[in-house]
Amino acid sequence: MPRGFFITFEGLDGSGKTTHLRLLARTLQARGLPVTVTRQPGGTELGDQIRALLLNSQTQNIAPLAEMALMFADRAQSLQQIIEPALASGHIVLCDRFTDSTEAYQGGGRALGSERILELHRAVCGNRWPDLTLLLLPDIDSSLSRARRRNVHQLIEGVDENRFEAEQRTFYERTFAKYREIAQREVSRVVAIEAETPAEATVEAIQERILKVVEERLAQFSG
Ligand code: TYD
Repeated sequence: MPRGFFITFEGLDGSGKTTHLRLLARTLQARGLPVTVTRQPGGTELGDQIRALLLNSQTQNIAPLAEMALMFADRAQSLQQIIEPALASGHIVLCDRFTDSTEAYQGGGRALGSERILELHRAVCGNRWPDLTLLLLPDIDSSLSRARRRNVHQLIEGVDENRFEAEQRTFYERTFAKYREIAQREVSRVVAIEAETPAEATVEAIQERILKVVEERLAQFSG
């Protein structure tokens, strides 16, 4: 039976991961490779409802543990309905956020800690981990200002996905720190992409680095 390849994109809101995921999908598809693109929360009928609930700034007073559990409910549905079938049919699955987001945002940002996120992952996700995770780490301020600009545009179009971006900077500092911790722990799975100079920070330069990593990993995988 063919086995697919599972790639996730991670980073703060406004880190550019959605743009890079789409560019990568286009390149792989142009090479004739079968690609499935999805995101979390969302992507399934149930998941889209969970997403609307979790991201809308009108939703108030979600207990941190309820927030964590809803992220996993969404993920369980996505695994059964989208990710596992696509991998079983040999697709490259590109997923915008996965359990690292829950560890960073709920474990770090909401200070629930890593342990119960990882325990829940084992229980709910059959311990399925990505083959490769691309973690985009531009600095916090440029990520957040990009996310806020985008949200103003979304609001004009009638989409309210503002609940997380309304958080304090300290929430994002804890989330960012947890992402770094994950990258240090998961050295073989997680590749952190940081830019030292403005020239390295362009969309083209970052996409080039991403493509190089993906090509190497796919070659190892199929070789
Ligand atoms: P996303 O649509 O990826 O936002 P963006 O395009 O701005 O990166 O994710 C929506 C929000 O959900 C984002 O603020 C992070 C949050 N989130 C969590 O807090 N925990 C999770 O497990 C996931 C998947 C997302």
